[in-house]
Amino acid sequence: MKKSLTILGIESSCDDTAAAVVRRGEGKAEVLASVVFGQTELHEAYGGVVPEIAARAHAEKIDICVEQALERAGLGLAQIDAVAVTAGPGLIGGVLSGVMCAKGIAAATGLPLVGVNHLAGHALTPRLTDAVAFPYLMLLVSGGHCQFLIVASADSYRRIGGTIDDAPGEAFDKAARLLGLSQPGGPAIEAAAKAGDPAQFALPRPLLDRPGCDMSFSGLKTALLRARDAVVAEKGGLTQQDQADLAAGFQSAVTDILHEKTKRALAEYRLLAPAKPTFAIAGGVAANGQIRSALVGLCETEGVAFVAPPLSLCTDNAAMIAYAGLERFAAGETDGLDLSARPRWPLDDQSPAMLGSGKKGAKA
Ligand code: KG4
Ligand code: ZN
Repeated sequence: MKKSLTILGIESSCDDTAAAVVRRGEGKAEVLASVVFGQTELHEAYGGVVPEIAARAHAEKIDICVEQALERAGLGLAQIDAVAVTAGPGLIGGVLSGVMCAKGIAAATGLPLVGVNHLAGHALTPRLTDAVAFPYLMLLVSGGHCQFLIVASADSYRRIGGTIDDAPGEAFDKAARLLGLSQPGGPAIEAAAKAGDPAQFALPRPLLDRPGCDMSFSGLKTALLRARDAVVAEKGGLTQQDQADLAAGFQSAVTDILHEKTKRALAEYRLLAPAKPTFAIAGGVAANGQIRSALVGLCETEGVAFVAPPLSLCTDNAAMIAYAGLERFAAGETDGLDLSARPRWPLDDQSPAMLGSGKKGAKA
C-alpha cells in the first residue's frame, strides 16, 4: 500500500450534495477540499425534506460538486487513489445519485470504488480531525441522529443506546415551533433560554428511571406543549418571560437526559479499559452551550478526553465519507461495480433496529 492515500468522497444521502478530497500521509489526515451544496430552501415550504425533490437536486448538482472539489484540491482524477461514496443509509433516490456518479467515475477511470456507511462517516470524524485512537465512545446528536457508539475499529461499532423516538435536534426544532420561535430551533431555544428560569416549569426526563442508555424526547415535547397550553389557557397568551422559562426548562431537560445517559455509556465503555479514554460528540446539537459544558464537565470528572470536531465536519459533508473510505481502502477493502444503495444500513448489526427515524427520514 502507498504511503500517502488521496481519496475522493461523495455524499448525497439526505439534503446536502457534497464532494471532498482527503489525503492521509504519514501523519494526520488532511481535508484538501470540501464542497457542500445544501438544499434547505428547496424543502423549506414543506416542513421537512421531500425525498423526490432531494433526489432530483442531487442528480443535478453532484457532478458539479465533484468537479469543484477536484479543482479546489488542485488535483485531477489521475492523482486520486480511490472513489468513496455513501452507499446508505438515507433517502434512496439521493443515495442512488451518489452511487451512480461514483460508479461512473470508477468505470471510466478504473479507480477502485469504496462504499461507505454514512453513519461510519460521522463516527470516524474524530479520527479525521483529532487522530483519536480506538476504542472511543461517540455520541451522534443531530436533527437526524441520536446514538451512542463504541467505535472499536473502522468496521466495528457497538451501539449501546439511542433515541427510541425523536432525535434531540428534531425535538429542539419542534419545541421552537411550539413556542413560536424561529427555525432551526436549537439556536433559537438556546438564545431564548438565556433569559429563562429552568425551574419555572416541571418538565419530565423520560427514560432516566430505566436502566441503559436509550433515550426518548417525544414525551418531553408533549409535556412542553401541555405546559404551554396551560399558560395560554390561564393568561390568554405567552409572555416573553414564559417563552424564555419554557425554553430554559426544555433545554435543561435535554441536557439532564444527555448528561445522565452519557455517564452510563461512559461506564460501559470503560469496561473495555481503553488506554486513553476518549468521548467524542458530533452533530448540530453539540453546538449547544449548556449541553456541551455539561458533557465537558462530566468528562473532566470521569478523567476522559473530550473531542468535538468543528461543526462543518459534524454536519453532513463528504470529507467524512472520503476519510471513512480511506480507512476501508487502507485496510484493503473495495467494492465492485455491483455496489448497491441501501436505504437502511445499521452500523451495528447486532443491535435491534432503531425506532426513531429523525426529521430527515429513516436512518439505520
Ligand atoms: O448536525 P446537523 O446540522 O444535521 C442534521 O441532522 O440536520 O443538526 C441540525 C440540528 C437541528 O435540529 C438544530 O436545531 C440542532 O441541530 N442545533 C442545535 C443547536 N444548533 C443546532 N440544537 C441545540 N442547540 C444548538 N445551539
Ligand atoms: Zn448525517
